[in-house]
Amino acid sequence: RVCNRLPNSRASVSEKISQSEAGAKVVKEIPGSYGPPLLGVIRDRQDFFNGREEFFKSRMEKYQSTVYRVNMPPGGPFFPDPRVIMLLDAKSFPVLFDTSKVEKRDLFTGTYMPSPDYTGGYRTLSYLDPSEENHGKLKSFCFEVLMMNRERWIPEFQRAAQELWDVLEKELASHGRAGFNDASEHMTFNFLCRSVMDRDPAAPGPASLGGDGPSLIKKWIFFQLAPINTIGLPRGVEELTIHTLPLPFSLVKKDYQKLHGFFSTYATRALDAAHKFGLTRDEASHNLLFNICFNTWGGMLILFPSILRLLGRAGAQLHKDLADEVRAAVRAERGGLSMRALESMPLLKSTVYEVMRLEPPVPFQYGRAKQDLVLESHEGFYKVNKGELLGGYQPFATRDPKVFESPEDFLPRRFMGEQGHKLLRYVLWSNGPETESPSLNNKQCAGKDFVVMIARLLVADLFLHYDSFDMEISAGALGSAVSFTSLKKPISF
Ligand code: HEM
Repeated sequence: RVCNRLPNSRASVSEKISQSEAGAKVVKEIPGSYGPPLLGVIRDRQDFFNGREEFFKSRMEKYQSTVYRVNMPPGGPFFPDPRVIMLLDAKSFPVLFDTSKVEKRDLFTGTYMPSPDYTGGYRTLSYLDPSEENHGKLKSFCFEVLMMNRERWIPEFQRAAQELWDVLEKELASHGRAGFNDASEHMTFNFLCRSVMDRDPAAPGPASLGGDGPSLIKKWIFFQLAPINTIGLPRGVEELTIHTLPLPFSLVKKDYQKLHGFFSTYATRALDAAHKFGLTRDEASHNLLFNICFNTWGGMLILFPSILRLLGRAGAQLHKDLADEVRAAVRAERGGLSMRALESMPLLKSTVYEVMRLEPPVPFQYGRAKQDLVLESHEGFYKVNKGELLGGYQPFATRDPKVFESPEDFLPRRFMGEQGHKLLRYVLWSNGPETESPSLNNKQCAGKDFVVMIARLLVADLFLHYDSFDMEISAGALGSAVSFTSLKKPISF
């Protein structure tokens, strides 16, 4: 419905440009409805948990629009205002990255924020807007920790990966199948602790985690994300428990203290750098824990199974092509899996980007309008009022048929060549275009380059060890559970 013209008074430069580009175009009212108080929230919440893709798609069809109003879970009465303007196409979505237009304060997990008790009483970096002084200090600290360990990432990853393959091969030999998820969760945590803390999490010592690291972290993350997740309980039970009330921190306090004890005891090298950025050791330790356990480990918990599932489904020819490319690049580097070798694997690079396009591990992003603004989707212009909450379901933006051909298909070569590279600006998993970089002034993932490197390393290391593999998939609590049913070793390499 056409309701008013582009507002003139507060238009920024870019809005003025779109205004002139818009010519005679008009600003439309955003379709959709929040329904009656509480009832509307409950109805939308139930629809969402019945299947989120269908939830978004059915409303897109109903309103004939990729921008509309809807309640996003969890919502009242015990969670904050759930009214959101959803952005579901590649054109409108990037407004969420523009920190001159949207505020990102306390929106990391969505319309609600877990109690800061979960993070040592601090609002950790992920919850801060770049306009807050601590954002720059904490992001600099995060960059510093990544930098100070740059020589360790590749060798420590390969060491932990070797242990992973050994475990999986043994399990395959004795049971005919080998579960990837549990084993890779331990592998990832070992890799991160050894790299950053120079220590095995299970090594004996006053703050040792034994083999409990991954389960402690999973429980801590689950308690924070429970309001927007399902765990397979009957719908009605979930509705009345985890989706209605925030879970109290007291139930995971001991687990968190154990994890924090490990970080504050052994992350000496990283924490010694905290004062350079004007941070106390205590605040730095809780942020480091969050970066490593929530951002990094939690991200890989989702990403690694996605990579393997999509690779596994793609079949033997892709496996062969990847193995050939990886082995040739490593040979050219005299046997080493270096950064240079990883850079010279165009198919592998494109394959990893394609996984991240099709299944961005963090699917939701939010931002609150800092001012009245005009949004643009493929269909037209929409007026947003200052203070309104914008949300994006990223898989719809990165599977936008107006940008990507066969958007639902896994096409490993999609990002190869000149034309392919041009599409990288529509890959958004890091909360920003793949062609841009995280900085102190934006909210793009601090670990962007690191994540891409690790994802490439996983695939490269896999195909250094094996020619091909077969697997089975089942539904896991947090994404897909992958089990290998074969790992085919090369005759010679
Ligand atoms: C922010 C994704 C790994 C550190 C983000 C955001 C996303 C994201 C989507 C933006 C959230 C928002 O504000 O709406 C991922 C994924 C990862 C991953 C999918 C792995 C698969 C990492 C790693 C690090 C990291 C390895 C640390 C070194 C951060 C930090 C922020 C952030 C500090 C907040 C940035 C800021 O406040 O400016 N990440 N991330 N992430 N990520 Fe990552």
